[in-house]
Amino acid sequence: MRAHPQDTILDCLMEIKRDLDPTLAFRYSCGHGMCGSDAVMVNGTPTLLCTATVGRWAKSPDFPPSDGSGSRPGEFRSTAGLGSPQSARTHRTETKGAAAPSRGVIEVSPLQGFTVQRDLIADLDPMMDQIRKLHPYLDTDGAPETAAEDGTHAGEHLQSPAQLQRYELLSNCISCGLCEASCPVFAGGEAFIGPAALVSAARFINDSRDTGTEERLDAIDSEDGVAACQSVRACSRPCPRGIDVGEEIWQLISQVNGRRQQQP
Ligand code: SF4
Ligand code: FES
Repeated sequence: MRAHPQDTILDCLMEIKRDLDPTLAFRYSCGHGMCGSDAVMVNGTPTLLCTATVGRWAKSPDFPPSDGSGSRPGEFRSTAGLGSPQSARTHRTETKGAAAPSRGVIEVSPLQGFTVQRDLIADLDPMMDQIRKLHPYLDTDGAPETAAEDGTHAGEHLQSPAQLQRYELLSNCISCGLCEASCPVFAGGEAFIGPAALVSAARFINDSRDTGTEERLDAIDSEDGVAACQSVRACSRPCPRGIDVGEEIWQLISQVNGRRQQQP
């Protein structure tokens, strides 16, 4: 197959599935970086298939394969992870330039840190379970704080632009798992609740309408919570929503520590 530099890796995989290998399994939905369902490793980096372009990721023929297997240039390699019932697959691709076509290698593998279900599909349920554990919904004690006595604003929870700004970006998290895959501590188990769950907790802790801050801080003040974070901050780089994940976790750590110091 031939690919243009502006084609996405998702485009390539769909073409491979259509024309070369109908059994190849991968996940996607929106195709526009909005749903987070197509997170994989591209050349060893956590990335969304639908926003990663061939031009950006095709390695030059001289670039050595990351696994040292000596693969040939001009190959599109989708590598199933450990435990997958499918074996590694290789498909040839060419990056077609305007004047002189050049070949490159793109290595695609399932999102690291998660159990592989098949080919490029990783089981993200552990991450979703961790997010659910921290109650990812607004807790307002059922009483609208801003309800006026005359009932003008009854049922509304008014916020200033500054209050909205404190959590608005965090509410854009699409639970893709890229931050988890880049975290050297998170391994999909119980040892660390993971950056995605902590971002979800921060989203509600920073929301002026939420009345469950103490309970939320209690929930993350544990060995598998903020205490497990090593502040490596590798989680910030791949976030497709522009969230500085490491900084948000650092802010949570500061809140937890500040609360401890105030306790008798
Ligand atoms: S914080 Fe960013 S990288 Fe992590 S799950 Fe949310 S959108 Fe994905
Ligand atoms: S398919 Fe939805 S984010 Fe890529």
